[in-house]
Amino acid sequence: MNIVRATPFSRTFLTNNYLPSLKSSQSPSIFRKRGLLIAVIATNMIILIGNQKGGAGKSTVTLLLANYLTQAKMKPVTVIDMDYQQSIAQKYERAKLLENTEPYTVVAASLEHFPGMKNIMCTDDAQIVLIDLPGKLDDDGLIAVFESADLVICPFSYDEFSFESTILFSVVLRKINEKVPLVYVPNRVKANVKYETRVDVDEQLAKLGYVTGALPDRVDFQRVSTFQTPLAILPVVLNAFDTIYKQYFHE
Ligand SMILES: Nc1ncnc2c1ncn2[C@@H]1O[C@H](COP(=O)(O)OP(=O)(O)OP(=O)(O)O)[C@@H](O)[C@H]1O
Ligand SMILES: [Mg+2]
Repeated sequence: MNIVRATPFSRTFLTNNYLPSLKSSQSPSIFRKRGLLIAVIATNMIILIGNQKGGAGKSTVTLLLANYLTQAKMKPVTVIDMDYQQSIAQKYERAKLLENTEPYTVVAASLEHFPGMKNIMCTDDAQIVLIDLPGKLDDDGLIAVFESADLVICPFSYDEFSFESTILFSVVLRKINEKVPLVYVPNRVKANVKYETRVDVDEQLAKLGYVTGALPDRVDFQRVSTFQTPLAILPVVLNAFDTIYKQYFHE
């Protein structure tokens, strides 16, 4: 294994807590040093998926993006599940019982573990790490995570409470990380949302970041797994993610 210099785009996670979730057939690579098991995830990008609003679609968008990056773009991805319910990690464990190969690894962790995980080394492999954040802002553990982000994706819906939480999340993020690109994904958009409301909200959010095409409210989104995105929603997912990919990812 080739451990080289640390750069903002190449990070390594040091861990001895998460190994049950890691599989040696895939990145990250695992080795032993002074009795500690160390998992090395070489990354070229850390992407946070966050919003203070519960149920905004953080975990769903994390899964959709992980599937998109691994299946449509053939990128190596690791998902760090920091959601309290660890809904992705649970789906991952269930899916593993049924399938043979995993398109990406899901590691369950909490915010407090992040600084320890972030000790930087790197290998030649480029990883994209997606972090599904918990829906809260009152934890100092968020600071290190926000500081480390290369891109932040914030799913939201057009109702009033979601908008307020989205603005609050954005303001806190900006206080900690002024420069990180922020992308808003309108989610659970219903046909009856007033056109003026959408235009108004999009205009406000466009002052803080980039707003993608919308993901409609459809039951198929509830069937997204760590293995697949239902075909029926692929067009809208591609519409939202292709623009993000073109703008913020390097081949
Ligand atoms: N576009 C959509 N259409 C229909 N259902 C959706 C859509 N997006 C998400 N959902 C459903 O809404 C619920 C909440 O979504 P999700 O768990 O992704 O939100 P979250 O932000 O991660 O929530 P939490 O704050 O609890 O972690 C889930 O049951 C999910 O399947
Ligand atoms: Mg969640």
